[in-house]
Formats: sequence, structure tokens, C-alpha cells
Amino acid sequence: MPNNKVATKIIFGNWKMNPLTLKEAEKLFSLVAKNVSQIKNTDKKMEIVICPPFIYLEALSKIRTSKIKLGAQDAFPGDVGAFTGEVSGEMLSGLGAKYVILGHSEKRAGGETNNEVNKKIKSALAAGLRPVLCMGEGVRDPEHNYFNFVKTELEECLNGLNKNLISKVIIAYEPIWAISSTQNRKDATPADCLEMVIFIRKILSDKFRDVAGGVRIVYGGSVNEKDAGDFLQKGGVDGLLVGKASLDAKKFVEIIKICATLNK
Ligand code: PGA
Repeated sequence: MPNNKVATKIIFGNWKMNPLTLKEAEKLFSLVAKNVSQIKNTDKKMEIVICPPFIYLEALSKIRTSKIKLGAQDAFPGDVGAFTGEVSGEMLSGLGAKYVILGHSEKRAGGETNNEVNKKIKSALAAGLRPVLCMGEGVRDPEHNYFNFVKTELEECLNGLNKNLISKVIIAYEPIWAISSTQNRKDATPADCLEMVIFIRKILSDKFRDVAGGVRIVYGGSVNEKDAGDFLQKGGVDGLLVGKASLDAKKFVEIIKICATLNK
């Protein structure tokens, strides 16, 4: 599978439902922004995206930083209307969000289906957002059925997307068994990641042919400042989706530094 384009590396911070107050959110964001402004090689060769809870987006968009973009953690598949409790991609785009995490396993645990994620992806693209499709198996069974699970998940979530649109989608491979919020979680290795990234790339290239190589794939699942370098170098990925460690400015900045150093 040719991947002739050098992908710009991308590091996401997924804050999930944290922190508790706007003041803390502004403090964390400002601290990361200040430290990142001092790191070389973060300009052209990598992107940094922080995805806070919806309610903090507007305030954070006013904090000056040229290096950090904003993303959201979900978006309703539609633009405006009588949908109590929902927030649309159009609204998020209007607040300055550039990316949106969709299909996260913590949302899927509440019953979100591949079909719903597919609708959200299309709607987010129509709103000018770049969807970050989270996907990955719950367990690695000895019979290797998890490959079929991942294939179905990917195909159903990307159903109906054409070649032009797929290049705007980021795939986040997040094996649920490795995510920090999973009980009795286990560490995934860069080799586990690489194997799945190759598999995902094969599915993408069967479906989207020549443009598939340009689709960025990132890894997420308890990434921290100790293993980020290994995942970036040996996991076959174009970036990382960091949850828990992104709430610690020091750890998150360290991960960004590692990525910037590898990019040199
Ligand atoms: P984690 O979260 O790094 O805390 O495991 C990643 C994610 O769930 O997006």
C-alpha cells in the first residue's frame, strides 16, 4: 500500500468530561499553549488539537495561540432544530472548532451505533469539520475475530463517503481494552498497533484506492510521555489521541515535544 505523502503528525488531547470549572480549563489550556510556543518544529510539521467539553470551547477559542487548534468531542447529525440537549457541527464550527471526535467508545457504550456514527461523520464534514473516527475492538479473542469486528466497524462508519471526503477523516484506532477508563485494562504495544494500522490501511486502500495513503491514522489508549515515542516510531501511526495524560500539562507538553523531536 503506497503511502507516498508524508503526513503531518497530529496530537489530540481528549479532555473528556474534565476539568470541573472554566477557570481550570483556561489555566490548563494557557499552560499548554505557553509551553508549546517554546517548542521548535511544532509549526508546519505537526498539528496540536485540544478537545475540551463543549461549554469551554468559546472561552478557549479566545486564548491566543497560533499552534493549538480546537476540537469537540461529539456533534449531532444535523445543523439546527428541535433536538433537546444536542449540539450541531455547524454550531461548533461557528465557535472555532476544526475537528470533532466521533464514535468514541465511551459514547458507543451508551448505545451509539455505526450507522449513527456514519451520519455524524457526514454531517460534520458538511459543517466543515474534520471528523476523528474512533474505532477499535473491545477484546482480542484468540480466534482473531476482532479483525472482522474492526473491518465491519470501519466499513459501516465510512459507508457512502467518496474519495474527496475520506482524506478529511482521521481514523483513531483505540482498542477499548487499552483505554485508561476500562476496568482491568491492559497496555497495548506498538506492535499491536502496527498490525491493526496495516489492516486498516488495507481496508482503506481496497475502498478508496489511491487516496487511502493520505488518510491519517492515530493511536489512542493510555498513551503517556513514556510510550508516546514508541507508538509514533514503531506503531505505524501519524499521531496520537491522548486522554488522561492530556489533563496534565507537563505530560501533554512532553508528548508534543517527543513528536516534534521525531519530526525534525
Ligand atoms: P486515555 O484516553 O488516553 O485516557 O486512555 C484515550 C481516549 O479514550 O480517547
